[in-house]
Amino acid sequence: MGRLIVVSNRVATPTETKGSAGGLAVGVFGALKDAGGVWFGWSGDVVSETVANAGPALEQDGAVTFATVGLTRKDYDQYYRGFSNATLWPVFHYRNDLARYEREEYAGYRRVNAWLAHKLIKLLEPDDVIWIHDYHLIPFAEALRSEGVTNRIGFFLHIPFPAPQILLNIPPHEELVKSLSCYDLLGFQTATDQQAFHDYVTRHARGTVSNGNQVEAFGRKLRTGVYRIGVFPDEIADQAKRYESRQHVLDLKQSLEGRKLIMSVDRLDYSKGLVERFRSFELLLERSPEWRGNVTLVQIAPPTRSDVATYQKIRQDLEYEAGRINGRYSGLDYTPIRYLNQQYDRWKLMSLFRESQIGFVTPLHDGMNLVAKEYVAAQNPDDPGVLVLSIFAGAAAELSGALLVNPHDAIGMSEALQQALQMPLAERQRRHEINMAALRKNDLGVWRDSFLRDLRSVPLRNTGEGGGHK
Ligand code: G6P
Repeated sequence: MGRLIVVSNRVATPTETKGSAGGLAVGVFGALKDAGGVWFGWSGDVVSETVANAGPALEQDGAVTFATVGLTRKDYDQYYRGFSNATLWPVFHYRNDLARYEREEYAGYRRVNAWLAHKLIKLLEPDDVIWIHDYHLIPFAEALRSEGVTNRIGFFLHIPFPAPQILLNIPPHEELVKSLSCYDLLGFQTATDQQAFHDYVTRHARGTVSNGNQVEAFGRKLRTGVYRIGVFPDEIADQAKRYESRQHVLDLKQSLEGRKLIMSVDRLDYSKGLVERFRSFELLLERSPEWRGNVTLVQIAPPTRSDVATYQKIRQDLEYEAGRINGRYSGLDYTPIRYLNQQYDRWKLMSLFRESQIGFVTPLHDGMNLVAKEYVAAQNPDDPGVLVLSIFAGAAAELSGALLVNPHDAIGMSEALQQALQMPLAERQRRHEINMAALRKNDLGVWRDSFLRDLRSVPLRNTGEGGGHK
């Protein structure tokens, strides 16, 4: 079996792969450890041109090499802040209204992809299998191919793939899909995303789709598949239980004075539906006065991409909403919304999830949303909380034990909160079991292994059998 090469915009540090970071880092690292290989990407630093061109910096951990490069200010602005996060991210999350398109940024996006690909080539071996992650790196395979790389290359999109009419808003949409056709395997989070890609291929690229997943477009053949990213539920359950009596949990419990607790954790992103969520919580207090003073919403929202204008705006909007609602319903000893712009360690979050009666996860669009899965896994099976989940999270297709809501229906969401707060123990347990069974059936290992199995077995029709590179 050839080595595995993982490429993602952000690369976990060797310490993070030991369990402190998100499950994805642990999951991907598991595959890297088994096959040996390289994890390559941006270091997260903005550096001078001399430093950027000197890289990659290499760090070895057993059979795995972590290889990272810094980006110059211009590259960061055009590739990361610009085309990735001000064009692709909003459009792929159905927010054309928040997107902008600048030709120079798009050129920078392609330039950085080509530059990164060129750096990776020096680390490649003929039998390597290459797995590229997410929207920052759509043209990566095309850049590798143009330098003669014929290895198997797969791509997994962690965010939604938009319906064709939405994608058309990005002027170089056709070039982007043509770039995607340079992969051997494209993985999507849900069947809806896969279908949207197929629809683009057949309606706008004069391509064909046969047997449900074999695509021919732009003179290339490739496969698509649905790989629902998961978590390791039993590890999360252990972690949540292990830390349930730690000081941070005791402090929270004491401060709640017996009130019910609703927990939400999201990056501070406009795709997460945070304003809509706050308003629905306000409606609960407005329509059901018995809950005033008796339920608290803890919203943890670490700031992200704060140098992109749309993120500054959502931060202002939320501060305004939290202040307004708290002004309306606080008492001398009660604050309805505790709004924290801070990053918390994963183990702390899992134990806080276990303490809460509701996990409130209501994105307007989300590839999967692992918080929803983590919330379920962290519950005490003897007294589980209820997951209230948006129909627009990829996770909704699997977690049928959740109370599903439409995040645009504020009253509907407040009614779901009411239902969850009053739900009898037997029903909570039944729903929790259904959700846990789904998480175990399709855990992070299944996601990773099935993608890699399919990638390793895909016929190398684009480039001739055998793989290898110049
Ligand atoms: C999403 C994306 C990831 C990204 C993460 C954090 O989950 O799918 O690719 O790494 O957000 O965003 P950031 O811009 O901080 O890397």
